[in-house]
Amino acid sequence: MTGQRMDKTLVDGLLVVFFWSLGCCFIEGSSQTEVNVNKYITWDDIKVDDHLSRLSTYGGDDRNQSRSVIVVDKNGRGDAVTVQGAIDMVPEYNTKRLKIYITPGIYREKVFIPRTKPYISLIGSQNNMSATIISWNNKASDTDSNGVELGTYRSASVTVESDYFCATRITFQNTVVAEPGARRMQAVALRISGDKAFFYKVNISGAQDTLLDETGSHYYFNCHIQGSVDFIFGRGKSLFQDSVLQSVAKRYGAIAAHHRDSPNDDSGFSFVRCKINGTGKILLGRAWGNYSRAVYSYCDMDDIITPAGWSDWNYPERQRTAVFGEFQCKGRGADRRGRVPWLKAFNIQEVSPFLGTGFINGAQWLKL
Ligand SMILES: *[C@@H]1O[C@H](CO)[C@@H](O)[C@H](O)[C@H]1NC(C)=O
Ligand SMILES: *[C@@H]1O[C@H](CO)[C@@H](O)[C@H](O)[C@H]1NC(C)=O
Ligand SMILES: *[C@@H]1O[C@H](CO)[C@@H](O)[C@H](O)[C@H]1NC(C)=O
Ligand SMILES: *[C@@H]1O[C@H](CO)[C@@H](O)[C@H](O)[C@H]1NC(C)=O
Ligand SMILES: *[C@@H]1O[C@H](CO)[C@@H](O)[C@H](O)[C@H]1NC(C)=O
Repeated sequence: MTGQRMDKTLVDGLLVVFFWSLGCCFIEGSSQTEVNVNKYITWDDIKVDDHLSRLSTYGGDDRNQSRSVIVVDKNGRGDAVTVQGAIDMVPEYNTKRLKIYITPGIYREKVFIPRTKPYISLIGSQNNMSATIISWNNKASDTDSNGVELGTYRSASVTVESDYFCATRITFQNTVVAEPGARRMQAVALRISGDKAFFYKVNISGAQDTLLDETGSHYYFNCHIQGSVDFIFGRGKSLFQDSVLQSVAKRYGAIAAHHRDSPNDDSGFSFVRCKINGTGKILLGRAWGNYSRAVYSYCDMDDIITPAGWSDWNYPERQRTAVFGEFQCKGRGADRRGRVPWLKAFNIQEVSPFLGTGFINGAQWLKL
């Protein structure tokens, strides 16, 4: 992740300009008085009637929100032929759940969901993560139309900046394969900076820097996340439960690079009952920032974990302040005899805040 901090300053500036230009073009938008209608995410938010969704259901003038399913079909039998086309149909400051149902196929496009469009669900068809794929192939060193390097943040195939986002039965992919030793090969598949997001049966697939869990509280349940170096990274506060973390590292790599600068920051990555497998020798986590926080509990680790387990990112002072833990994990990779001595020894009381949706304040936004 060389150069990440430099990127961020630059990219933030560009995004402000981007939003400014978006803001001027939209006149439509429902009133803000309807807030809190959808304060909780429920299973209904990721369900569509499969029969209904085969039809084109979103009439342009149709304000009947109970029928708010936009169908994306690349062969033209829906309301839009691209996922971005469907996102563009969502009114600004929309206050109700809007489901975007995507028929099977590979959608080769970059998708951007701005923060002005909350309550969006992306729903693939069939009970299968691999039938609907959104795939692009930008890397950090690519340049935009102005010749400016994209940097890690803007390499994302899919970007979600809005709150209350849900996704299910879908693959978010970045196909860039990092060559060993090559620079600026960060290639994000999904960047999420919206708050309160739910991912169920979603496959997030890439190599270096696959999932940028940038900020906000997120719940990943029954997901598959695949990558090589720092493949789950950012400042998010996220629970990864009953999911597969698959390393595609050729030789070395790392799963979590959580970024936290202060002990008062409540962010962190918690992995509960996850399966860790694949290739390489990988670290469980690297301390990005003095107070980086990542905890693995009840996980099953194949023999692909570097014995030391964790890295201080070459800042020895972080050994005192990083919060890294492993609690009751099993499998050959979970052998802690070679681990760094500064790994925290959690007891059940200390680990319990990390174990459930309480860690992400789920009582305030999840009803599953
Ligand atoms: C909205 O759609 C639902 C389901 O199709 C239907 O039952 C209802 O009558 C519609 N309401 C209006 C105002 O059109
Ligand atoms: C999932 O979908 C992919 C692509 O359509 C297909 O190749 C695969 O067999 C499906 N898997 C299952 C378990 O249905
Ligand atoms: C996830 O997506 C990648 C890329 O399409 C694919 O290679 C992999 O098999 C998928 N994993 C699962 C569990 O569907
Ligand atoms: C990883 O584990 C999952 C869940 O047990 C399994 O479905 C998958 O095939 C495994 N993948 C590899 C590469 O071992
Ligand atoms: C991290 O800790 C070091 C050493 O204590 C300190 O010099 C540095 O300012 C800290 N970084 C941040 C971002 O607080």
